[in-house]
Amino acid sequence: MSSRQDEPVPQEPHKEAGSPACPAQWVGAAGTAQDPQSRSRHVTEVVSTGPVRHPRTLPATCLGPARLPQPVGAPGGSQLCSLPDPRCPQVQRVLQPLSLSLQQLSRVQHHMLAAMEAGLRLRKGAHTVPMLPTYVRSTPDGTGESWPPAPSRQLRWRTAPIGSGPLRAGGRAVPAAAAPDSPVLLSLQSKLQSWSKGYSCSGVVGRDVGQLLQAAIQRQSHDINVMVVVNDTVATMMGCRLGTKPCEVGLIVGAGTNSCFMEEARYVESLDDNEGRMCVNTEWGTFGDTGAMADILTTYDEHVDAGSLNKGKHRFEKLIGSLYLGEIARLLLVQLAQDKALHAGGTTPQLRTQGMVTALEGGLAAAQCLLQKLGLQPSDPDCFTVQQVCLAVVTRAACLCATSLAAMLTHMRKNRELPQLDVCVGVDGDTFQARRFRQTLLEMTKKLAPECTATLVSAVDDSRAQGVAVVAAVALRLEAQRREVDQLLQPLRLAPRARQQVQALLQCEMERGLRQETHAQASTRMLPTYVRATPDGSERGDFLALDLGGTNFRVLLVKLRSREAGGICMVSEIYSIPPEVAQGPGSQLFDHIVECIVDFQTKQGLWGRTLPLGFTFSFPCQQKSLDQGILLNWTKGFTASGCEGKDVVELLREAVRRKNQFDLDVVAIVNDTVGTMMSCGYDDPNCEVGLIVGTGTNACYMEELRNVEAVPGAEGRMCINMEWGAFGDNGCLDEFFTHFDAQVDRVSLNPGKQRFEKLISGMYLGEIVRMVLVELVEKELLFQGRPCPALQTPGIFPTKFLSTIESDGLALRQASAVLQNLGLAASVEDALLVRKVCQVVSLRAGQLCGAALAAVAEKIRDNRGLAQLAVTVGVDGTLYKLHPHFSQHVQQTVKELAPRCTVTFLQSEDGSGKGAALVAAVACRIAQSRAAPATGQ
Ligand code: G6P
Ligand code: BGC
Repeated sequence: MSSRQDEPVPQEPHKEAGSPACPAQWVGAAGTAQDPQSRSRHVTEVVSTGPVRHPRTLPATCLGPARLPQPVGAPGGSQLCSLPDPRCPQVQRVLQPLSLSLQQLSRVQHHMLAAMEAGLRLRKGAHTVPMLPTYVRSTPDGTGESWPPAPSRQLRWRTAPIGSGPLRAGGRAVPAAAAPDSPVLLSLQSKLQSWSKGYSCSGVVGRDVGQLLQAAIQRQSHDINVMVVVNDTVATMMGCRLGTKPCEVGLIVGAGTNSCFMEEARYVESLDDNEGRMCVNTEWGTFGDTGAMADILTTYDEHVDAGSLNKGKHRFEKLIGSLYLGEIARLLLVQLAQDKALHAGGTTPQLRTQGMVTALEGGLAAAQCLLQKLGLQPSDPDCFTVQQVCLAVVTRAACLCATSLAAMLTHMRKNRELPQLDVCVGVDGDTFQARRFRQTLLEMTKKLAPECTATLVSAVDDSRAQGVAVVAAVALRLEAQRREVDQLLQPLRLAPRARQQVQALLQCEMERGLRQETHAQASTRMLPTYVRATPDGSERGDFLALDLGGTNFRVLLVKLRSREAGGICMVSEIYSIPPEVAQGPGSQLFDHIVECIVDFQTKQGLWGRTLPLGFTFSFPCQQKSLDQGILLNWTKGFTASGCEGKDVVELLREAVRRKNQFDLDVVAIVNDTVGTMMSCGYDDPNCEVGLIVGTGTNACYMEELRNVEAVPGAEGRMCINMEWGAFGDNGCLDEFFTHFDAQVDRVSLNPGKQRFEKLISGMYLGEIVRMVLVELVEKELLFQGRPCPALQTPGIFPTKFLSTIESDGLALRQASAVLQNLGLAASVEDALLVRKVCQVVSLRAGQLCGAALAAVAEKIRDNRGLAQLAVTVGVDGTLYKLHPHFSQHVQQTVKELAPRCTVTFLQSEDGSGKGAALVAAVACRIAQSRAAPATGQ
């Protein structure tokens, strides 16, 4: 070679701060210095300087404006990932196969994305990457145990060599990071799928590494429990963070390559539950093992693979991991020597020896070192060629790594349904430390996934150890938290035995309520309704109906026609009952009702007609006849004065008289349960039970008249309004009440009353949940114990939140949104916990309701002496209808507790106003038939 002036002069490679004389970086001659300001924007390194750690911004480019290495000699920029110098055509020719176009890279990205998504499925096809669930469900939350390690939990470790050369020995235990002593052994599965990176110890593949390690520890009589076994990507992800922001991706680019990320659990088909997130170890090093990269592999890659311990496996890793890059570079140098583009064409035994190139270092001095090591003359041109080779190999590796990172980020963005993804990526590995690699990785990732911003957080010496400790600490914390939460929720869980007890207790209270001598002590009043039959379809005429006591107050016009003439036709109007009216003087409440009737009649052009009226009045009333109902006590937030103990039909009539404008013909007063049963009974003659689970709860059913001691006669049946909301008011359910229920009862408008209703109905479930949440916060199990003044407000957590939070699909997001609206910043864990509380509370409510209904069904079966009963329950109420799982809980429990009853549930679509009109119609028919003989008709 001629003088220096004739040869391409290698640029001085960029040296990173503090880099040694032979810098561990791969930046070749074409590496360009970066503007330090633009480079300091995103990449952050968390430096380890002792127990207290502060993030330090590293001078390197992240995903700012893309600055791709400009291809030289490839106009149009189609070849992106190698930089052969045009002035050295032989070098350029040899390195050419390593150049990949953006199109090719996008294709790899696309294949990788497909392989990842396929890997998450249960039935894995060809071209998948393993995507292994790690059972790490959360990233550090910044609390004491996890980060930074408290002074008492500082990490101490010793590095021990694992021997030199590939590990092929038989089953010796490799020391691994272990968490501090703890009584808890978490059963995290950690079966080794396959060895890689030169390991091939026998008897380990397919076995649980944690158990092997534990056994080895025991053999040496140490007192250490293996709590978790984590992949290095997971340890890196957990050990790196940016300020308070945890990393949600872990990336290793060292001897091998791999990644992990926090995946939405619902996309991991192999998981039983689909709540929250779980870290998935992609094992992307295996990508291409089934041929997905055939079009980009070079003969050098094939050689490297052929000479490896795991031939045909981990093909992607073999293009990126430093264990293989040196070998690719060596093969390229051999080729260049053969082409006389290196060392004037001569080779040396060292150059021909596999494994002689282990590090791809970018500086001139490093090139010289390498050439000397290979027994070659370190001339300037050869040094420059070595730099070119290193650059080409490293750049390709970085570009390929970027395709996978971009695929993973895109996948995360899609699954989280975000327009933009912003995540921190914890990165470790010697290859990543090379500036050229990092810079190319960042710029290419940005190019391939422009809608994702990844902040790379570089691991420091002890990051992985910290990560393992964090996983162990998080696992410990979660385990401890789970136990505490379970303990707290335990009283709200009903064992099968408890459900049977509730059923039996209600059966007993029903009997006591029906019998004269025990009636006064019974908590279920078992009120006769004077409704003796369900509709038979012969009911006709126009009726007015009032429907008071649920969420809405309605006035209705119900036209009962024959089915041929169109059946039942209804018009209704909803009116509000403001709380000050519901809780003011009784006269004001009834005046308001009359105002609403007047308004309705005016709108419907009913002036001058006095239609018979059925009054659905959803409160406990003692009836002596169909058109008389003495209000026993208000429930559900009504407290209007001067009404209890009075006949509400009379109160209504008095209000009509006060108005002095029209007449009202009230022929029947019915409870909403009765209205619902009648309404459903019109369509299904088997409907002999009415159930309401809405603001309040209650049931009615057809009882044998002979059992109703308060009403004379023994023939036929009568509908009984059970008023089961009061079940337990006499203390018979005390063992089932929790201190949460006691709190809800205490602050209610009717303490000590409607105790069963307060465990079940819509007016109270949200309050129970609120009480539990308050306690969870107090115990620092929720919202990290941050004070939540909003939760102190009664009624702030209405029952409809339970329906939202427990709905399937995007439930967790719903939970977070609900909490957000309350001003409560919830983590995924918080949202999961709130959801769990809601589930426990609504499950208990559903089971209690089911147990009570089972008692009713069994009573009917027993009454009729049947071996098997088939009965339909007409149901209404917002909780039953709107909660996503409540009805299943009820039905499931009825099946369990009343196996000899086939219970069909029929939801009422028309409200109980229709039922009240039907009752009124029957009353009119009976009245007419009684009047007929007298008038001679
Ligand atoms: C019905 C009735 C109401 C009843 C309600 C219960 O359909 O027409 O009178 O009280 O259901 O539901 P809610 O959820 O409104 O309390
Ligand atoms: C009332 C019942 C009513 C139920 C459902 C309870 O509070 O006492 O009469 O049927 O709520 O609305």
